[in-house]
Amino acid sequence: MARPSVLVTRAWPAAAEARLEEVADATFRHPDRPMTGDEFLAAAGRYDAILPTVSDHLPEAFYDTAAGRVKLLANYGVGFNHIDLDRARAAGIAVTNTPGVLTDCTADMAMGLLLAAARRIGEGERELRAGQWAGWRPTHLVGTRVTGATLGIVGFGRIGQAMARRAHHGFGMRVVVQNRSPVATQTLAACGATQVDTVEQVAAQADFLSLHCPGGAETRHLIGASVFDAMKPGAILINTARGDVVDEDALFAALDSGRLGGAGLDVYQNEPALDARFLAHDTCVLAPHLGSATQATREAMGLKAVENLRAFFAGDTPPDQVT
Ligand code: DGY
Repeated sequence: MARPSVLVTRAWPAAAEARLEEVADATFRHPDRPMTGDEFLAAAGRYDAILPTVSDHLPEAFYDTAAGRVKLLANYGVGFNHIDLDRARAAGIAVTNTPGVLTDCTADMAMGLLLAAARRIGEGERELRAGQWAGWRPTHLVGTRVTGATLGIVGFGRIGQAMARRAHHGFGMRVVVQNRSPVATQTLAACGATQVDTVEQVAAQADFLSLHCPGGAETRHLIGASVFDAMKPGAILINTARGDVVDEDALFAALDSGRLGGAGLDVYQNEPALDARFLAHDTCVLAPHLGSATQATREAMGLKAVENLRAFFAGDTPPDQVT
């Protein structure tokens, strides 16, 4: 086929944009701003492929409009809960994603949030910046010990396992895991983990509960009142997965009651909007969806999306085909 015409919905790292230009007639959205629903509908009648990303909102009507025109949605990002796979399939549109290349950086971010929340680093930094530090004292900003504590993990795919390795081998943590399917004994043993059946069972044992499951209808509000009620008083929640995995009303209730000791969050239910209640909770460390945000990883994600696109239009099976 001739070079495909493609639309990239958000600005990419320069190296990835350059590589895409070698294989496709690419339109890049510079300046970088979110696509509206109308812009998606216009694009649906115009391009061979669209390269969306995790913060895009594709309107329902996109798929019918794109049927017969758009052949591929080559997503920049591993999560694809913003794409309606059933509608894409029905419209004859293939979908690819970018797994693997963001595993370590996302696990690093989860560990960073865990440490920051446990050791109250955000609170300390704010105090210093406000010129309010009164000096070292035995009871100042006393946090939670990480070394030797128990880490609960929900979702034991690539990123969950990378988090478990960091926690177990780096911080001597005991690891307890919930996963929708049984995990191989060897995989568990590699990070000293044991598997239990339910999220509540993990929560009951965890000093820190870190979420690594996919987003989407199946996991929406998976972490709700029953999980917070099962948690040890003072435990800390870490979420680098998807915002809507957590029921934020239940989260605030657990923070208010003291059941939850704090949280380290990279994702939110209605991002980029932040629920104003977070601002009243100093024990929450808040990051703006930065899990994969390193130069090396963001370039690698772009190169992976391009490779999926190249393979697809060359008539090969793309390495990361989702549908
Ligand atoms: C993804 O790829 O799904 C991440 O959320 C982006 O960091």
